[in-house]
Amino acid sequence: MSDARINPSILAADFVNMQADLARIANADFVHVDVMDNHFVPNLTFGPQMVQRIQETSPVPLDVHLMITDADRWAPGYAELGAASVTFHLEAAEHPVALARRLRQIGSRAGVAVKPTTAVEPLFDVLDEFDQILVMTVEPGFGGQSFLADQLPKLTRLYDEARRRGSQVWLQVDGGISESTIARAAAAGADTFVAGSAVFGAADPDAAIAALRARAASAHRH
Ligand code: DX5
Ligand code: ZN
Repeated sequence: MSDARINPSILAADFVNMQADLARIANADFVHVDVMDNHFVPNLTFGPQMVQRIQETSPVPLDVHLMITDADRWAPGYAELGAASVTFHLEAAEHPVALARRLRQIGSRAGVAVKPTTAVEPLFDVLDEFDQILVMTVEPGFGGQSFLADQLPKLTRLYDEARRRGSQVWLQVDGGISESTIARAAAAGADTFVAGSAVFGAADPDAAIAALRARAASAHRH
């Protein structure tokens, strides 16, 4: 694997000092932007207007994670505003493959996410339709929750299937990623890691990113 990608989640940033907090993660690969609608998940963050400003301000490209219902309707707008990647939930999309094609056509990477109770096997036959698959290792909705290690076999099954098919899809993991859990996720097959509290809770976020990246790279599955 080339370097592990570390995407800090701004859910753990200071929402009224977003520009300053974005400047603290210039060493990140992407900034992970959690959009929540109080409906798909029991929490509310922000919508396209805020994401547009983050896009204009961020030193690194945007990795938008949509925890919203009716993804078919709303996801393309985030690609149109320039997000490098847009990930919607499989549980929230009526036509996931058509939606992924639309996102790619607009020019963003297309991602699909699964909640802890959702199986990944239905994605095997359509792996090439996606640029990244996000395996949630917490129930989506809040930062700072404990890592669900029972989700790791999903990453391994995806990793082995992607290899078998020669797919270049990125395998992303989100929820409870820290210096003590990242090696297990990397060993299971993840190559892209979202970390909220572990990065923004650190005294030096850029140093925390470098430490996470090094741990993941040395533990990655081959
Ligand atoms: C949770 C969000 C995550 C969250 C992760 O629903 O999707 O991106 O910010 O936060 P930590 O890393 O603190 O678990
Ligand atoms: Zn997220």
